[in-house]
Amino acid sequence: MESTTKPTTYTAFEKDVIAGLKDHPKHISSKFIYDKKGDELFQEIMAMPEYYLTDCEYNILKNQSADIAEKFNLKEGFDLIELGAGDGKKTKLLLNHLSQIEANFTYLPVDISQNALDKLGTALKNELSEVDFELLQGSYFDVLNQLYSYNKRQKVILVLGSNIGNLMHKDAIDFLKKIQKNMSSEDLLFMGFDQKKHPQTVLDAYNDPSGITEAFNKNLLKRINSELGANFNLDAFFHWETYDPETGTAKSFLVSKTAQEVRIKKLNLEVSFKAWETIHTEISQKYDDDTVEWLASKANLSIDRVFESENGFYKNYTFKKLKS
Ligand code: AVJ
Repeated sequence: MESTTKPTTYTAFEKDVIAGLKDHPKHISSKFIYDKKGDELFQEIMAMPEYYLTDCEYNILKNQSADIAEKFNLKEGFDLIELGAGDGKKTKLLLNHLSQIEANFTYLPVDISQNALDKLGTALKNELSEVDFELLQGSYFDVLNQLYSYNKRQKVILVLGSNIGNLMHKDAIDFLKKIQKNMSSEDLLFMGFDQKKHPQTVLDAYNDPSGITEAFNKNLLKRINSELGANFNLDAFFHWETYDPETGTAKSFLVSKTAQEVRIKKLNLEVSFKAWETIHTEISQKYDDDTVEWLASKANLSIDRVFESENGFYKNYTFKKLKS
């Protein structure tokens, strides 16, 4: 006999929370940090003096935009597709240069957040009125799949901010493979990778004394409280960062200060914590040229050129599809 009770369907967030808090050791994916409050906290992180990544990439795009643009098919025109465009602050530097040299291109920012896209659209109309653009709301790959047959001219795919660093190498390779599948031989991938450097510099970037990064990570617990009816006491956890200079992996944890029980009403779930038990929330991978080359080759891509920040902290790479 079939059961008549309706099967429960869970959102991706709910599934991740259930699986992650039942697991040993516990974990929750950092991709769920980004609700409206999480977006705001990330904006604050980018403005912190310790968070060098944003400044480094900003300076690469500001000082080297002419060299970067030389890689584009300026003669026949191109489509500039940005995955995870956000506020476009750094991209605008490149757009500004491209519009100055009167390049023939269309800017196609892709973002999951319609709100972020609307803001970007308004800013583009005001600040860069001569740039032709089209806002694309959706997940990266749905949009890339559509674009594959969209246009015959060169595609330049932009992924800024070392966002790939949130993925473990295996997942990073899958991500690169999916992009590669949607590229033709003339297309270009332009991507930011934060580099290995003094371990203290990395730790400081994820360990600010003002507590912004702590609030950013704790936003996961805040979301579980407000969206899933839980009773996490945010003060009963603290943020802990580690960096392994051998692997280049920075890791964020929330550590339980005491033994405690948490109830998540909507999931009908009781979670118990021992004193000092952890929830792993994020990895922020740091790279070197060999590692980037290895990741690329696993995805049938090859490094075409490297653009380095003055202090060597950060690099943007252009990649092409390997002939197979
Ligand atoms: C947006 C993934 C690049 O890992 O550096 C910033 C997110 N986390 N501070 C990073 C983040 C803590 C950021 N990325």
